[in-house]
Amino acid sequence: MSDTKPHNAIYKTDDLIASDIDAYLEVHQHKSLLRFITCGSVDDGKSTLIGRLLYDSKMIFEDQLSALEFDSKRIGTQGQEIDFALLVDGLAAEREQGITIDVAYRFFATEKRKFIVADCPGHEQYTRNMVTGASTADLAVILIDARKGVLVQTRRHSYLAKLLGIRNIVLAVNKMDLIEYNQAKYDAIVAEYTTFANSIGIYDFTAMPISGFKGDNITKRSVHMPWYAGQPLITHLETVALDNDADQGKPLRMPVQWVNRPNLDFRGFSGQIATGILRPGDAIRVLPSGKTSTISKIVTFEGELSEAVAGQSVTLCFADEIDCSRGDVIAAADNPPEVSDQFESTIVWMADEALVPGRAYWLKLGTQTVSATVQSPKFFINVNNMEHMAAKTLELNAIGVAEISTDRPIVFEPYATNHVLGGYILIDKITNATVAAGMLHFSLRRAQNVHWQATDIGRDAHAALKNQKPKILWFTGLSGSGKSTIANEVEKTLNLLNRHTFLLDGDNIRHGLNKDLGFTETDRIENIRRVGEVAKLMADAGLIVLTAFISPFRAERDMVRAMMPEGEFIEIFVDTPLEVAEARDVKGLYKKARSGQLKNFTGIDSPYEPPENPDIRVNTVEMSAAEAAEHIVRQLMPLK
Ligand code: ADX
Repeated sequence: MSDTKPHNAIYKTDDLIASDIDAYLEVHQHKSLLRFITCGSVDDGKSTLIGRLLYDSKMIFEDQLSALEFDSKRIGTQGQEIDFALLVDGLAAEREQGITIDVAYRFFATEKRKFIVADCPGHEQYTRNMVTGASTADLAVILIDARKGVLVQTRRHSYLAKLLGIRNIVLAVNKMDLIEYNQAKYDAIVAEYTTFANSIGIYDFTAMPISGFKGDNITKRSVHMPWYAGQPLITHLETVALDNDADQGKPLRMPVQWVNRPNLDFRGFSGQIATGILRPGDAIRVLPSGKTSTISKIVTFEGELSEAVAGQSVTLCFADEIDCSRGDVIAAADNPPEVSDQFESTIVWMADEALVPGRAYWLKLGTQTVSATVQSPKFFINVNNMEHMAAKTLELNAIGVAEISTDRPIVFEPYATNHVLGGYILIDKITNATVAAGMLHFSLRRAQNVHWQATDIGRDAHAALKNQKPKILWFTGLSGSGKSTIANEVEKTLNLLNRHTFLLDGDNIRHGLNKDLGFTETDRIENIRRVGEVAKLMADAGLIVLTAFISPFRAERDMVRAMMPEGEFIEIFVDTPLEVAEARDVKGLYKKARSGQLKNFTGIDSPYEPPENPDIRVNTVEMSAAEAAEHIVRQLMPLK
């Protein structure tokens, strides 16, 4: 496509798509992309503004336009004029309610740039939607209704935009037509916003008076507001500096997505460059191993490159054969990122079920996936007035600060410096749902100063001397199900077979190591975490460890399983129905629980999650304790 065509032809895309699809794609491929979000509520005119942007950039197709005109007449709120809000509020149900529910992404383009806009709903219960939309945005348009001025939600949106590190903020004072394009009122709103913005660390933003409905200061300067000397919104969006430009000035970081090895002669490392610029011959360091080499080639689908920059997806070849795999980070040799396993972090909780401190979640950061636990939050932030509040957990949409630790070191940078290596999500291990988004602040000093010490006599040597294979026999079941009795029988039998064993029993451990713990969900999780660590140490010492704890939650039993080598964690379900355990009531605790004297009692007012696939199951209704023990030992044979 030649540059001499009138620019109208360039972005009359409906014509171009029909007549010359290659030209259309060509034009858009080489344009830069700006991702932005619009924050505000239905009342602020957000959907109308997005509709206006789409309409004025001519990205609406004919059939959409005629449907729009039809709908406007039927249910629109703007009389006979086209109601742009209808274009954006996709779903029929939403339209009829007049509310935008989810994050809707829209694509449009002008002569200079292409855009992806995430439309984020305004209410506090949609904080998670805004966080989702904002996590990849270069710019946020914060909409204010000129009649109402700075509201609680304006503050909340600005705070979130700042928290997520959006570098460009536009304060769009909308509905100027409804306040007679009054400059004094506009100035007062901007002044009030400036005071607030400075208080949360936003020192730089662009304010503009607009009317999405009438089109003032959208594509061209408004004739109604000659006093406004700035650019119209579209011009600002077309010319504002992109994050990629800023990222190029930073040291090289590329998370490795996959190792490309089509044949024995080629080995390349593919991924998207997060920050920096790289050229063949550059010295690199692979983290976390710290191994160094130089770039020999930069390969792409279009051939080899002499240079690649932040935002590009490439395959890198090294001059030396060094280990590098998915999840590693390729970095500038003389300026690598940090590696750590304990952090302070801001966490935005996005799930209906609250955070469970101490529980293991999957943490995904860049291309790394590790197991992670969050401590009890230090505080959560009231997003309407930025106050810090005491918190034991984080509920849906809460934003808090907590310490987080991972089961192995990860390569990271503070989120403020690098969004790719500092931003992460948490995933529930059982439901696979994304439950939180987080931003790392810094690595905890204690993690930096504590290193793993290698010892010469390892677990194999310990086990060999005892002539056995270490194991954890993990008994789980209700209180009074018979765990302790059966575990005791199993240990006696193993003893007769000359096995070296140790039995960790719930009530006993709660007299010593865990005497500081009660029976809340958090305390039970900590109970099992400690017992898991102790059992693992004992297995490392070569022992066959028996544990008898209710251990009511699947997630924590799975956590201990994950700490052990394959086949060394045997989950034994002592399957005694509640009625039977309660009828036995050996310690009289069920009676106390039923009468309300004892709170949080498992099976009564605290849950028990039975194993779905136990390695061994014993039914104590059909078997005596001795029979159950015999059954278990038989299943364990041969013990080597
Ligand atoms: S766990 O849930 O954290 O695994 P654990 O096995 O250590 O529990 O301790 C359970 C024992 O503590 C029970 O067998 C019972 O004797 C005693 N106990 C006291 N209060 C409770 C309670 N609220 N719920 C369950 N067990 C309790």
